[in-house]
Amino acid sequence: MGLSPTDSADVFVVRRSAPLRGVITVPGAKNSVLKLMAASILAPGETVLSNVPAIADVPVMADILQGLGAEVTLDLDAGLCTIRFDDEPDWHAPADAVTRIRASISCLGPLVGRLRRCRIALPGGDNIGKRGIEMHLAGLEAMGASVIEHADGIEVRAEDLHGAQITLDFPSVGATENLVMAASVADGRTIIDNAAREPEIQDLCAFLVEMGARIEGIGDPRLEIEGVPELTAVSWRTCPDRIEAGTWAVAAALTHGDLLLEHVRPADLTMPLMKLRAAGAVVEEGADSLRIKAGDLEAVNFVTLPYPGFPTDMQPQFMVLLSQAQGTSMCTENVFESRFSFVEQFRKMGADIDIDGHHALIRGVAPLHGAVLDGLDVRAGAAGVLAGLVADGETIVRDVHHVDRGYGDFVPRLRSIGADVERVPASEVDLPAPDA
Ligand code: EPU
Repeated sequence: MGLSPTDSADVFVVRRSAPLRGVITVPGAKNSVLKLMAASILAPGETVLSNVPAIADVPVMADILQGLGAEVTLDLDAGLCTIRFDDEPDWHAPADAVTRIRASISCLGPLVGRLRRCRIALPGGDNIGKRGIEMHLAGLEAMGASVIEHADGIEVRAEDLHGAQITLDFPSVGATENLVMAASVADGRTIIDNAAREPEIQDLCAFLVEMGARIEGIGDPRLEIEGVPELTAVSWRTCPDRIEAGTWAVAAALTHGDLLLEHVRPADLTMPLMKLRAAGAVVEEGADSLRIKAGDLEAVNFVTLPYPGFPTDMQPQFMVLLSQAQGTSMCTENVFESRFSFVEQFRKMGADIDIDGHHALIRGVAPLHGAVLDGLDVRAGAAGVLAGLVADGETIVRDVHHVDRGYGDFVPRLRSIGADVERVPASEVDLPAPDA
């Protein structure tokens, strides 16, 4: 897969396609592997991760770890990442790479845990709304850390990092992960109430336990962590990407196709599968597979919430699906303040969607036509591609570097199941100026 900077100037050209049919192998989860990589900071020696997805954020996280002193080997074709910390990591995270991905903030907890200090720039990531880190910092402060704000980031120091009772305002994924990682090597017992429970957090906790951490309540809203003096580097297989799987499932239902998804954990997708069935798709669950078949699509309401609620990361894709369902559906977005920004682009294709605050009314069936879509985030970019599969004419999705962050080899895999989509340099396509 090409990940050079010039690729970010590529566009996807999508045309109406026949029903998608075939088999898709789902890779490891983006939102797990990046945290597993960060957690490698906690232990000297060699961490070996398998089922690593071929997505653009992985080499960026590798750059961050290299900047901290690790030797990192990536073989994305084989899905392998090896991280070796022979010496103590640097406590300054390299700003260039850190500002490129949101997940870079996951280095904070491990650095404070292992070194009792960290200096890090504020992270980059998607344009889906304000993404504060005050819960991460308040938790570390409760554990004895002090935070100094600099013009270019933050410095966190904790001579005495100790266990604490922490109640999160909201079950934040990133805050839960950072606090669990720091608490794993703090002195004493930490209790995190209202902890996030996403499968990727469960994966991280299980990985930390394999490294020697003592964590109870994995998958529950209360996590109890008894700090240990040190952790040991281990080998680990990344859990499957439930959001990728969900995106393919929507693609099958939307195009009235028939897809077999392999290497998934259906239990991680309970709520999206429930909504897919309610919307008319036929879903067959295997032990580690899913088959999604066409059905007559009907309106359904859904509400995004922390896991086990409906994932915000599938909201734009589902919105596309429901635009093609009979009747009016309502979506309520509760996790990110600007995650309806996709709707403005989608309306250019003929989608009939009204927004009122964090509610969206989606009227179907809206005939869709091709348009040029831009300013999208990783999930909205994927949703734009899905919309193009059922639209008349040609849909151009710009800013495909966002999609590269979450979907490895997206175009070849789409083509393998019959999608009419190609990736071309933007210079080869006649494009209007991007929207202001
Ligand atoms: N929040 C705060 N303050 C904090 C922490 C969070 O206000 O200290 C707010 C955020 O601004 C946001 C909400 O809480 O509105 C949820 O944030 P959370 O911390 O749960 O999410 P995250 O760790 O920033 C991860 C995923 C996202 C996914 C969310 C929710 C990674 C790298 N990112 O983000 O993934 O949407 O959890 O499940 O793990 C994606 O993959 O497309 C993506 C955006």
